[in-house]
Amino acid sequence: MNTPRRMACRWTAAAVVLLAGTSRADFGDPLVGLTAEQLARFTDGRDTFEEVEGVADGLGPVFNADSCAACHNVGATGGGSDLVETRFGKITAGAFDPMVSHGGSLIQAKGIGVQGACTFVGEQVPAEATIRAGRRTTPLFGLGLVDSVPGVELLVLAAIQARFQPATAGRANIVTDVVTGRPAVGKFGWKSQVPNLMHFSGDAYLNEMGITSPLFPNENCPQGDCSLLACDPVADPEDDGTDVGRFNDFMRLLAPPPRPRLGWAELGGSVVFDRLGCASCHVRTLVTGPSPVEALRFRVFQPFSDFLLHDMGSLGDGIEQGLARGTEMRTAPLWGLRLLTTFLHDGRATTIADAILAHDGQGRAARNRFAALPADQRARLLKFLGAL
Ligand code: HEC
Ligand code: HEC
Repeated sequence: MNTPRRMACRWTAAAVVLLAGTSRADFGDPLVGLTAEQLARFTDGRDTFEEVEGVADGLGPVFNADSCAACHNVGATGGGSDLVETRFGKITAGAFDPMVSHGGSLIQAKGIGVQGACTFVGEQVPAEATIRAGRRTTPLFGLGLVDSVPGVELLVLAAIQARFQPATAGRANIVTDVVTGRPAVGKFGWKSQVPNLMHFSGDAYLNEMGITSPLFPNENCPQGDCSLLACDPVADPEDDGTDVGRFNDFMRLLAPPPRPRLGWAELGGSVVFDRLGCASCHVRTLVTGPSPVEALRFRVFQPFSDFLLHDMGSLGDGIEQGLARGTEMRTAPLWGLRLLTTFLHDGRATTIADAILAHDGQGRAARNRFAALPADQRARLLKFLGAL
């Protein structure tokens, strides 16, 4: 029986679970509890993340934007945005082909113009491409916590899912870590295609801004034409690793989204979330492992993601990265959802309800349970999600 006392206990338990490990810092703030030295690194890192780079700094020859913050800015520096990038490819003999010889799979949409005998223009999706996918810019709040989760924790999570919820079980993407040169569990990007923030820092500096560094020393060939690189005005590596290290510092020390405000309706929605099976992929709680940074060491936090790949059927973007097949996507973390105005990997949904209704493949059953909800429960669930 649901006596008032038992109900009160249950709600209190739900509230405690919800609030555990959430942050007191605001969007864009550093983690709470940093040392003065760490705070200085955070601030220097943020300055570099916001810094606008020019051709003399190594920008280009093809690129997407001239600073990290040009794309990562909603809510604060380090947020996401509605900016959607383009990837392309095709299927050759049954296998995914990223069409590197045409400058794929990521488009660099801008060029630095006339340099000596060459003129650099933005890339375009070649006519031969049969796959074209949009990728929305994701927020970076709290990613130092994700970075500090031991890869083995995600492997164990995948094993538990396979054992107890096989219909929705995810699997880890295994990718090569450029920092160590060894295989590692992928965590970052829409397909968990990158294993850590240092790797992503170098990757994004090259692939978004065209700036080479010791981790990523080779320029992208504009639209696949490597002969043009003879006109690239700055010698590689264009960054000696300083900037890449600073991006890593900033992102690692950036606080998670501030604690959501949950009233009765939202708490009710939180119960619906579990009942529909959303939390089987959007796992509420993870724990970090050892870290030299105390604020990241053995911390409980609530990303609402398992950072694993799930087969999403028709929602998949068709691109392969690492082990991730075309239909597989990383469970999108739901913390900080309150800042988003477009949803899903390509930003196709403009409401949270539409994002849920587009779940297919392993997400189909939960989607159908959502679609069948009575109006009041649906409203509570959406209030909960909108508050995260
Ligand atoms: C032109 C826009 C743009 C610029 C400039 C840009 N990013 Fe991003 N960023 C994106 C997009 C789009 C994604 C999603 C990429 C994907 O998964 O394919 C992303 C994802 C990321 C992620 C993964 C986050 C997650 O959810 O796992 C990190 C980390 C990141 N960017 C860091 C950086 C850094 C550091 C810089 C500057 C060197 C930078 N970005 C510059 C658009 C941009
Ligand atoms: C089988 C695993 C799985 C289940 C179950 C699942 N999701 Fe998802 N969810 C995903 C994946 C993967 C994505 C990213 C898909 C994409 O954009 O391609 C996602 C994306 C989302 C997004 C969009 C987030 C963003 O940043 O754009 C929302 C909102 C969401 N899910 C809510 C829910 C809710 C609510 C439920 C329960 C009714 C649910 N999900 C069930 C795997 C799942």
